[in-house]
Amino acid sequence: MNAPKITTETIRAMKARGEKIAALTAYDFPMTRLLDEAGIPFILVGDSLGMVVLGYEDTTSVTIAEMEHHVRAAARAKPSALLVADMPYHSYSTVASAVENAKRLASAGAEAVKAEGGRAIVEQVRAIVTAGIPFCGHLGMLPQSVREEGGYRVKGKVETEHQALLADADALAEAGAFAIVLELVTAPVAKEITQRIPIPTIGIGAGKDTDGQVLVTPDLLGMLPWYNLKHVKPRLNAAEQMRTVVSEWKNGVSNRS
Ligand code: KIV
Repeated sequence: MNAPKITTETIRAMKARGEKIAALTAYDFPMTRLLDEAGIPFILVGDSLGMVVLGYEDTTSVTIAEMEHHVRAAARAKPSALLVADMPYHSYSTVASAVENAKRLASAGAEAVKAEGGRAIVEQVRAIVTAGIPFCGHLGMLPQSVREEGGYRVKGKVETEHQALLADADALAEAGAFAIVLELVTAPVAKEITQRIPIPTIGIGAGKDTDGQVLVTPDLLGMLPWYNLKHVKPRLNAAEQMRTVVSEWKNGVSNRS
């Protein structure tokens, strides 16, 4: 029997019931299908795609065409999970481009879109929601700003950042976002935002008191041994297992066994 379809309303209702939201990224058909079969309710075709699949240095090179290609592949899994897609860098600089590109992702199969920023993009958020496309916010460390910021840094340690995060979270909730990802936000500030706004917060490196947690799936599975991440301890050593199996198979071929 197919699991019931998860919508943005389901995700919002989980906060109301105090049920934690487990979210993971997927970039293609098999990963989306496996996560869905494991019961993950929120699957994100993240622009982390750029680093973990396409081999770019950061997310800033990902294009809308690349996102569409991977959203289409993920959507072919027809998940019960809510399928959310990231809007890539520079794809929502103006209200018109934000609506046009959100529509492209929705046509590719995304059931909601996510973009980075707070008060700076509220007009875009309102326009996307008005166009009938659900919107998920993303505050804290904004990977698309990594070059301007000179690295990945925890946000909320100083009072100005704390106040800015509160104001941005309020603005996104008021503009119609159905959830907000909090990335690398100090645990006390993430908790305060979670208690303050009516929509779910989904944390990554933001402590345990958010309404949900999201991880980049290849990080969880230990598929990327080249990166050393503080916020995630891999639960599998997929990279090592793959090297072992592949080299055993290669030896079998060489030995004609
Ligand atoms: O691109 C991505 O995978 C993300 C997650 C880190 C939340 O935005």
